[in-house]
Amino acid sequence: MSLIEEVNSLKEKFKTEASDIRDLKALEQLRVDYLGRKGIISTQFDRMREIPPEERRAFGKTLNEIKNIVSNQLDELKKTLGAIGHKKELLDHTLPGRKDFIGGLHPLTYIMDEIIDIFRGMGFVVETGPEAETAYYNFDALNTPFWHPARDLTDTFYLDLPAEKHKSWLLRTETSPVQIRVMERQKPPIRIIAPGRVYRNDKPDASHSPIFMQVEGLYVDKGVTMADLKGTVLTFYRAIFGPDTETRFRPHFFPFTEPSAEVDVTCIFCKGKGCRVCKKSGWLEMGGSGMVDPNVLEGVGIDSEVYTGWAFGLGIERIAMLKYGVDDIRLFYENDLRFLEQF
Ligand code: DAH
Repeated sequence: MSLIEEVNSLKEKFKTEASDIRDLKALEQLRVDYLGRKGIISTQFDRMREIPPEERRAFGKTLNEIKNIVSNQLDELKKTLGAIGHKKELLDHTLPGRKDFIGGLHPLTYIMDEIIDIFRGMGFVVETGPEAETAYYNFDALNTPFWHPARDLTDTFYLDLPAEKHKSWLLRTETSPVQIRVMERQKPPIRIIAPGRVYRNDKPDASHSPIFMQVEGLYVDKGVTMADLKGTVLTFYRAIFGPDTETRFRPHFFPFTEPSAEVDVTCIFCKGKGCRVCKKSGWLEMGGSGMVDPNVLEGVGIDSEVYTGWAFGLGIERIAMLKYGVDDIRLFYENDLRFLEQF
């Protein structure tokens, strides 16, 4: 290799080393290595003396060129790295962009928002109540006497909190206690819904979860009848499931309503003809309802001779499962992103 070739090869060496530089500190080291007083280029200049005079000019010229190239490239690199700042990475414009993870609403929240919208459109106001309740609001005030099986340990999660006089704590088993809380502080007319979580000591399976959601409805005023209840519930389910939906009220028992009824809707899959989902009946069970028991009204100081009311408590997961085609309630509570990201 001639001297000139040898010096020229420094250009390649520098390029290779420069392409590895990722931060300003390494860049400064590279500058010192090449342009420092004892650096590679200065050392080459020191060789001038050994070189035959006739080659000196060309050698010096080449060396100066390289020095300029190195110095320019170091300046360029400094600018690029400075622009990236603390990121310590060189910008590679060819890399695909990083996708930000964008959170979304839970499917039950979507359904709940839709339900709230529908009832708001009918003049209902949204109310809430605590999930940790007292037995008074969850049972006694709802005309559920101490001997009622729903109060049994197998259904209710009791809380180990210091019991004050006549006060034991539990996780509410239904949204119905909100009825009492609202009626205690507000005189009729009352027209509210109370969406929220409830808890039951149930073994989880495809259709049971120890935590689930309900929406409670309550309408109390002069002259409120069961016909209003049926009309309201039908309007609601038609808004949710479509205009050809029908409802059916089956006689039932709830301690806080008299008469009481369970609400069924025509199966949204077979339109009432009978299929696997509705077990060939054509109907799907959605929740409970009834005329507020006079005992409940009197308990909160509302004159049951003057006012009447109705109430309902509907399952939210049931609606979500039917609308989204989900066949296992547990999916809503497992927080598996592969499931949640689909909504
Ligand atoms: N609380 C009942 C339950 O969880 C549902 C229910 C039935 C609510 C009748 C009501 C009602 O408001 O009137 O099973």
